[in-house]
Amino acid sequence: MHTPICDRLGIEYPIVAFTPSEHVAVAVSRAGGLGVLGCVRFNDADELDRVLHWMDAHTDGRPYGVDIVMPNKVPTEGTAADLSTYIPEEHRAFVERTLAELGVPELDTHPDGGAGVLGWLHSVARAQVEVALNHRISLVANALGSPPRDVIAAAHDRGVQVAALAGRAAHARAHVEAGVDIVVAQGYEAGGHTGEIASMVLLPEIVDAVGSDAVVLAAGGIGSGRQIAAALALGAQGVWMGSYWLTTTEYLQTMTDSATMQSALVAATSADTVRTRIYSGKPARLLRTRWTDAWARPGAPAPLPMPLQNLLVGEAHARIAASHDPSVVAMPVGQIVGRMNSVRPVAEIMAELVSGFDEAVDRLHTMRASAAPVPPAR
Ligand SMILES: Cc1cc2nc3c(=O)[nH]c(=O)nc-3n(C[C@H](O)[C@H](O)[C@H](O)COP(=O)(O)O)c2cc1C
Repeated sequence: MHTPICDRLGIEYPIVAFTPSEHVAVAVSRAGGLGVLGCVRFNDADELDRVLHWMDAHTDGRPYGVDIVMPNKVPTEGTAADLSTYIPEEHRAFVERTLAELGVPELDTHPDGGAGVLGWLHSVARAQVEVALNHRISLVANALGSPPRDVIAAAHDRGVQVAALAGRAAHARAHVEAGVDIVVAQGYEAGGHTGEIASMVLLPEIVDAVGSDAVVLAAGGIGSGRQIAAALALGAQGVWMGSYWLTTTEYLQTMTDSATMQSALVAATSADTVRTRIYSGKPARLLRTRWTDAWARPGAPAPLPMPLQNLLVGEAHARIAASHDPSVVAMPVGQIVGRMNSVRPVAEIMAELVSGFDEAVDRLHTMRASAAPVPPAR
């Protein structure tokens, strides 16, 4: 499993792992893929710097990447306090009522409800990039739009590749025009923010739309070597996986409070997700639980636009996490959750992906070799 993007990124296998966990990211890089650390949780650039120093020391000299969130269609500055004045009372009351109905206890202390939004401010993301470019990264990726041109230029000055996620061919083209090197074609089945087009249709569309101007990675619904082989057959040079790393032992090392979430994911089938705006205001695929069902009931308010919805539910998410109740978990995850049936180490998953890919390719080769020759015409 080797494609040209491996050489550009300095990796052995074209398996790129988005993860908010530095422990997962280093384990993927050590196993020959590229671990990409989601930075949105780092409001403090110094904290990110400390984590990246730790990653430098634990990746055996191998590269890794970082993922920032610079949305290009929502307010890019402003404090959480300013923004929260736009949240209607009806929405606040609905959240309180619903949490009470679901039996989610209050917290002893009130977390900073704006923390989840600050990582999306352009000033915060720029500080993250500045810090990250002083570390051993080979990729900067951006969700929710093309990164600004100065960010792309700063990365290129350091020889760092730039990626952006796309759910439509037109978005992929726009990324290429902006100077992005790698388009992550993310299909409908993916976890987190996602578009409306399934990977099987989207991936070849994006591969054709960008041509030789950019490399395409396939995202959405990948959790086996067979699916990697399919993605490469459709024209991708590699894969970008997100959900699959949520049920790893390493994830629990960073997010120590995640055992309940992991058990809910392990129990879920591929039919147990829902695409909804309740997480952030933009459509995102989540695990379907009593929390998501409550928002789908008649009489529930329509979710607010990004970033107000995220501010609205910030504290609710903290309360839900602390409740340790798998039936209300609020977690982005894709349809591949149906294959996430145990909590395993990253190295085991990586080995399985590579051997599964080899088996799939061998099977295809056999089909080709054993195709019955066409009898000569008489
Ligand atoms: C829990 C979770 C959080 C995510 N957060 C981000 C994010 O902050 N930035 C980003 O670029 N993508 C984010 N994504 C999307 C992933 O990068 C990736 O594109 C997606 O998970 C791929 O589909 P899959 O879930 O089927 O593997 C997130 C996905 C999940 C499951």
